[in-house]
Amino acid sequence: MEELKTVLIAGGSGLIGKQLTKVFKERGYRVYKLSRNARKQGHVQWNPKTKQVDEKYLSRVNILINLAGANIGNRNWTEKRKKELIDSRVESTEFLSELASKMPHLYYYVGASGVNCYEMDAERVFSEEDAYGADFLSVLVKDWEKASDRFDGICPYVKLRIAMVLSNRGGSMNAMKRPINFGLGSPIGTGTQYHPWIHIDDLCRMILFAIEQKLEGTYNAVAHCDTNQTMMKGIAKYMKRPFFFPAVPSFVLKFFLGERAMLVLSDLRVSNDKIVNAGFSFKYDQLNKALKALFPK
Ligand SMILES: NC(=O)c1ccc[n+]([C@@H]2O[C@H](COP(=O)([O-])OP(=O)(O)OC[C@H]3O[C@@H](n4cnc5c(N)ncnc54)[C@H](OP(=O)(O)O)[C@@H]3O)[C@@H](O)[C@H]2O)c1
Repeated sequence: MEELKTVLIAGGSGLIGKQLTKVFKERGYRVYKLSRNARKQGHVQWNPKTKQVDEKYLSRVNILINLAGANIGNRNWTEKRKKELIDSRVESTEFLSELASKMPHLYYYVGASGVNCYEMDAERVFSEEDAYGADFLSVLVKDWEKASDRFDGICPYVKLRIAMVLSNRGGSMNAMKRPINFGLGSPIGTGTQYHPWIHIDDLCRMILFAIEQKLEGTYNAVAHCDTNQTMMKGIAKYMKRPFFFPAVPSFVLKFFLGERAMLVLSDLRVSNDKIVNAGFSFKYDQLNKALKALFPK
């Protein structure tokens, strides 16, 4: 009988990790998750900060996926928090590359990364070979991807620059739904700024695709880019809630969120040509299709 393929997901307890675990299990993979708080079955204790790990399953691992990192959107970006956002990603990636020596059957690594890593130029559509920007998130992604490059010579690996993940189980979608739910649906800022997004099912399919095709290098995990106004209005429509409030001015957002306001105000368009040319096809390539699936009647 063929041995089950074993996947280890660092940060697997989060939004993407939970859905990915389900998808892997449906396909017959055995899944373990590295967590700093391993209480559930299948969760394995680790602490990338102190470089501690329960080693009992490491020798079985075939595929290693790193989704670990402190949440980007939920707290103010003080200098201390910024350090934590970077360290939690870089240290976990570096530690995983060290642990790879204890995984004799490891054959592929998937490193999460973020699409907010390009220069701020609303006139351009960015692709993977374009330079990193100079803002905080770009620097974070640059450091994070450099840490992933430690897998050079260990096994083939891919870095997926993930866009805003659309899911009905949390993440950015929850933040967008909140004001709409209170009947306060409106664009944020000018509303003309573009947001790259991906449906969570397509992201999980893309991770499987990368593993099956043994893709190497950096890929934008982006289904489409839509304006803030289009997204907010689309969500309001599917929630059957009003959308007539005046736009929330950028300065108000900057006042309350500080630098973190860039998560909603930055205007970014990104190409997905590279992953499409590699043979991947999106199930949800248009916002309407994604929202229809996320708000079933
Ligand atoms: N969701 C999105 O829209 C999106 C977009 C672009 C990029 N990404 C990136 O994709 C990755 C996964 O996203 P997600 O939405 O699933 O994130 P999430 O729900 O916040 O989960 C991330 C996981 O990382 C672990 N973690 C949190 N703080 C940590 C720390 N200080 N040190 C080490 N591990 C820590 C947590 O696991 P334990 O508490 O169990 O240890 C948590 O479950 C993240 O790195 C995120 O930045 C996500």
